[in-house]
Amino acid sequence: MSDNRIETPEPTPACEIIPERMTIEPFTMVIFGGSGDLSKRKLLPTLFHLCHDQDLPDNFAIIGFASTERTDEEYRTLVKDALEEFGDYKIHKGCWENFSRNLYYVAGAFDEEESYRRLSSRLEEVTTPNQKGIRDVLYYMAVPPQHLPSIFERLSICDLCKGSYETRLIIEKPFGRDRQSASDLNRLISKSFDENQIYRIDHYLGKETVQNILYFRFANSIFEPLWNRRYIDHVQITVAESLGIENRARFYEKAGVVRDIVQNHLLQLLALVTMEPPIDLEADTIRNEKVKVYRTIRAMDDEYIDRFTLRGQYDSGEVGGSSVPSYRDEKNISDDSITPTYFAGKFHIDNWRWAGVPFYLRSGKRLKKRITEISIHFKQPPLSLFSSSCDIREPNILVLGVQPHEEISLHIGVKHPGIGNQLYPVNMNFSYEKDLKGDVHFPLPYERLLLDCMKGDQTLFARQDGIEAMWTVVDPIIKRWETTHAPEFPNYAAGSWGPDKANELLSADGRQWRIR
Ligand SMILES: NC(=O)c1ccc[n+]([C@@H]2O[C@H](COP(=O)([O-])OP(=O)(O)OC[C@H]3O[C@@H](n4cnc5c(N)ncnc54)[C@H](OP(=O)(O)O)[C@@H]3O)[C@@H](O)[C@H]2O)c1
Repeated sequence: MSDNRIETPEPTPACEIIPERMTIEPFTMVIFGGSGDLSKRKLLPTLFHLCHDQDLPDNFAIIGFASTERTDEEYRTLVKDALEEFGDYKIHKGCWENFSRNLYYVAGAFDEEESYRRLSSRLEEVTTPNQKGIRDVLYYMAVPPQHLPSIFERLSICDLCKGSYETRLIIEKPFGRDRQSASDLNRLISKSFDENQIYRIDHYLGKETVQNILYFRFANSIFEPLWNRRYIDHVQITVAESLGIENRARFYEKAGVVRDIVQNHLLQLLALVTMEPPIDLEADTIRNEKVKVYRTIRAMDDEYIDRFTLRGQYDSGEVGGSSVPSYRDEKNISDDSITPTYFAGKFHIDNWRWAGVPFYLRSGKRLKKRITEISIHFKQPPLSLFSSSCDIREPNILVLGVQPHEEISLHIGVKHPGIGNQLYPVNMNFSYEKDLKGDVHFPLPYERLLLDCMKGDQTLFARQDGIEAMWTVVDPIIKRWETTHAPEFPNYAAGSWGPDKANELLSADGRQWRIR
């Protein structure tokens, strides 16, 4: 029997992907808090990674600054231990020698001017000018936020902000505790640094899938015409963590889930999904569009907050087969803490594109699985032609998976084989891991962001007006929650999908969470 199947045509060849090699000018990075948790877990392993991959210039220097007395040699040992514990690269001798000879340490107190004089002489010694004779210095603030004012003030007094160096400032989230403190902090920083020197980092924006949201939306012509209130029923964004608070109790007790995740990660994802097409990919053009979104998110009054937002705190339970304690039983947490570890809320964006479309956002710690995804739920077809044997009609859902799997899938209905008129839901999938051919390198989020900062590209960093606009959205929720009685906490078991009431938020609208 002859085989009459038609060969599937080869796909149109894609552009040749030429590995991008950027020229990074010589620089010195001063890490304030160079011995802290963030430095050990993320920054130093990422910098080593970049050095290993030969992304760093021949002349670079890293100066750790912290209060404990140490020599350069002792700091190198601390860094090596951190790489062994938290890095994912084998430490080859040659590579380590190349990296470690560029590591230095200055012991000093953040509020002591003399320490900055020592830092200044160290900078003089180790900073190499680039071809234009400019000496680039990057200050990374890996410190608890209460230390920032002292540091900025002393950097300024000691002429270390503008003067003889070209400087950039990298500052971690959370940026402030509310709109007022963020604005005060911005005012303080802007005395010493211009906006184009400030890199407010949120590592979420360094993830490939997060960046891919814009490519997906604006490089494919089939989705954008559907990307509006006429075709989209609602959107869900979930940032679920299976971990508890680890060793960040002091920070978390004061922050809670809204400051830790909603004000930054969740609103950033919401903006990328809903913003208008930028006219180009310049940093400010993209950031302008995101700020417009934050400003059109409907303001929440107390009544709205009580009805359409929800807080939770985890009880003991089982996550991934292990028993875990309740939040109140974690180390350094008070046993009557009312800090929320779970948030769910319904948002509206009052603009032409999104009027009437609800956005359900949620995030929590100690949930069943670590998963971050955005799901776009399309409206049902106007007539139900195929429901003769089954009432369940699955809508089309487009899922943008951010973690643990970076993937995109489209849920569609097909005819189930047989004589009945039965619909059957299937997925069309794209997975970064499985579908990209060749030896594709997935940069770690910090890797991408540090390189961007070294290059001077601010696209993936938040701007002052964006930060303040995001606080404006969440401030009323924080205030309402902090001034009214918390529900009976704990109100969800570790290893669940959060409080039962979170289901009611959607079921009241005839919907349900996609992941449940
Ligand atoms: N840890 C994370 O995974 C993570 C993730 C995202 C964002 N962040 C943010 O990153 C920042 C740093 O967090 P972290 O967890 O790394 O903090 P941390 O572990 O408490 O580290 C603080 C660092 O600052 C130094 N330090 C503290 N007080 C000092 C002083 N008065 N003078 C000089 N040095 C001083 C400490 O060194 P000595 O011990 O020698 O004093 C240490 O190197 C925070 O804003 C946090 O919110 C952290």
